Amino acid sequence: MKTENTVWHNQHVSKAQRAELKQQKACLLWYTGLSGSGKSTIANAVDALLFANQHHSYLLDGDNVRHGLNGDLGFSDQDRVENIRRISEVAQLFVDAGLIVSTAFISPFRQDRALAASKLSAGEFIEVFIDTPIEVCEQRDPKGLYKKARAGEIKDFTGIDSSYEAPENPQIQIKTADQSIEQCAQQVVDYLIEHGIIA
Ligand code: PPS
Repeated sequence: MKTENTVWHNQHVSKAQRAELKQQKACLLWYTGLSGSGKSTIANAVDALLFANQHHSYLLDGDNVRHGLNGDLGFSDQDRVENIRRISEVAQLFVDAGLIVSTAFISPFRQDRALAASKLSAGEFIEVFIDTPIEVCEQRDPKGLYKKARAGEIKDFTGIDSSYEAPENPQIQIKTADQSIEQCAQQVVDYLIEHGIIA
């Protein structure tokens, strides 16, 4: 537990200096959307484009983080809040390291996404709403989870018996039902260029 004897140390090398090494600005692309909406797919495609252009980026992905750091958490509202709180802290550290960070989590609650945003400076937090209707997600059902949830084999499933609060003013809104993965990824890259994060 943090006490009054825990003192913050400032570092000699700044976030901006670290980012400048890679000719980029540090930022956090916070992907949010329903299960099966395409968060991981699009985040991976963007990450690959950034890497191909010699940028230093890193992707924190829902299922993977739940294998390790957050392996003790389930899908109750309380556990989802704690999941996103830990991710926010980790993402902040990666941004501090000068990277273009992507997080791909359902992150269903507005308040938790706002908490993640509050840890960064203006312009560093970029909310990317993967706006795929539940009917489309359910039709895709890449992991067969909607089928299980409808059959009552999974409880607290987002969009079925657990809520999802869509972003009200996302910096980027991606309609995956009407576009290819490449077009969706390019929409994110275009935003990064327009906002001077990459050249
Ligand atoms: S959250 O809400 O942000 O804490 O969820 P997240 O860490 O992104 O984990 C979502 C992935 O977990 C799988 N899964 C479930 N999703 C939603 N509800 C329930 N009950 C559930 N159980 C398991 C599922 O594979 C999610 O992956 P994506 O990539 O979103 O489909």
